Amino acid sequence: MKEELEILETATNQTLHGEDNKTTTTDTHTGKQRKLYIESYGCQMNFADSEIVAAVMMENGYDTTSDFSQADVVFLNTCSIRDNAEQRIRARLKQINAVKREKNNMTVGVLGCMAERLKSQLLDQEKVVDLVAGPDSYRDIANLVAQVDEGHRAINVYLSREETYADITPLRLDSNGVTAYITIMRGCDNMCSFCVVPFTRGRERSRDADSIVKEAQDLFEKGYREVTLLGQNVDSYKWQSNDGVQQVNFAQLLEKVALVHHDLRVRFCTSHPKDITDEVLYTIKNHENICNYIHLPVQSGNTRILELMNRTYTREWYMNRIDAIKNIIGDDCGISTDIITGFCSETEEEHQDTLSMLEYAKYDYAYMFSYSERPNTPAAKKLKDDISDAVKKRRLNEVQQKLNDISLVRNKSDIGKTYKVLIEGFSKRSDADLYGRTSHNKMVIFPKQNFVKGQYVNVLITDCSKATLLGKDV
Ligand code: SAH
Ligand code: SF4
Ligand code: F3S
Repeated sequence: MKEELEILETATNQTLHGEDNKTTTTDTHTGKQRKLYIESYGCQMNFADSEIVAAVMMENGYDTTSDFSQADVVFLNTCSIRDNAEQRIRARLKQINAVKREKNNMTVGVLGCMAERLKSQLLDQEKVVDLVAGPDSYRDIANLVAQVDEGHRAINVYLSREETYADITPLRLDSNGVTAYITIMRGCDNMCSFCVVPFTRGRERSRDADSIVKEAQDLFEKGYREVTLLGQNVDSYKWQSNDGVQQVNFAQLLEKVALVHHDLRVRFCTSHPKDITDEVLYTIKNHENICNYIHLPVQSGNTRILELMNRTYTREWYMNRIDAIKNIIGDDCGISTDIITGFCSETEEEHQDTLSMLEYAKYDYAYMFSYSERPNTPAAKKLKDDISDAVKKRRLNEVQQKLNDISLVRNKSDIGKTYKVLIEGFSKRSDADLYGRTSHNKMVIFPKQNFVKGQYVNVLITDCSKATLLGKDV
């Protein structure tokens, strides 16, 4: 039990891939009466939401703790993207139940996407759960806890068309003090047939551009040197001021954030291949501090499968976007992707199209999944999940193999080049080394010398592994 409660390392990736990572809270000591412990699963949107939840709870008499056993309130901020993400939460709830039974007065809440998907069913199925709160209910979260204190079970799964939490300053949890996430929009209006997100997160809405810029400024003043703008489909960001004077699209927002300070790096995810514009690509090119890195999920390299997935682009359209990235930004632009293997009715030939897409795009990285049917999604309703688990897994392995080969070649081509690296902290292996990332999002490890976190340093790449570059400052 003890081991399982240990804090796992923070997820450092930049995408909304919804891998089943978890992070726990750092401790705050402001003399509040009660303690909150919060664990986040799924994608960066959830991690960012947990920081909103922590901020609201702090306003209402809670400090955060990293010690689960000290907590009066335990929240799991959950993910529904694939079945195993939900299974993992159910296993965790069982462990928590064992602790709760020994302790009086521990409130257990399920937040996030699984809360939204299952609603009151979750209260029926999981007796340990006192509180269920969907992604748009976090302003109400302290009231929900108060209802539990009064002896009721509490639920709020209302999805809003407006809520963006624009005015709430997140409480940075598990932060390295250098990089931070800023949520710029919520929800999703695309209906990719495999995906639960439109059901768990509701309609797409964009956050006030001025509040985004202000958050970036505040972070810079506090010493942060990189922000990642988050949304399920950032390219469809669109905001208009109440008087109608200001209209801001994503390219314009990127520029506004880049202008906060030339030492503040800007990243973003996720881009949708149907929406990413040349205007965005030129904006990246024109600002040194907007990182040369794009996460552009392809899902499949075959047009028929893309159509069944309702991705609304073809293989050729996607290739054209890759060409545009390389033509406008250059070959040095990092590109990563998401891939699903074994989607409904996918043939071997169609799977080969995904493999050849890896060759074409020369991805630096990919998040790869085998298809997991999600209840009530368009694919679950209309298509048959007819590829066996064994075939899905084999295709996944093939995709992984191919990606490894390609990204190793990409990494090797970085040897001998010099990159500007933003230092994020000590290497996990040794305190004599630091790690940081290049603009194109490669992790670099190099000797510490007198450098410190938050500094930029020029590093000559001397060696590489599958996942990391090694170098020395020049
Ligand atoms: N908004 C982002 C993706 C969010 S979900 C986008 O459009 O790209 C993150 C990734 O999880 C997706 O890109 C997809 O590759 C994967 N995914 C989503 N639903 C899935 C499912 N039912 N089975 C397997 N993988 C899935
Ligand atoms: Fe899901 Fe598609 Fe929206 Fe991404 S764009 S969150 S895959 S529906
Ligand atoms: Fe993210 Fe998982 Fe929800 S990927 S949006 S936490 S379903």
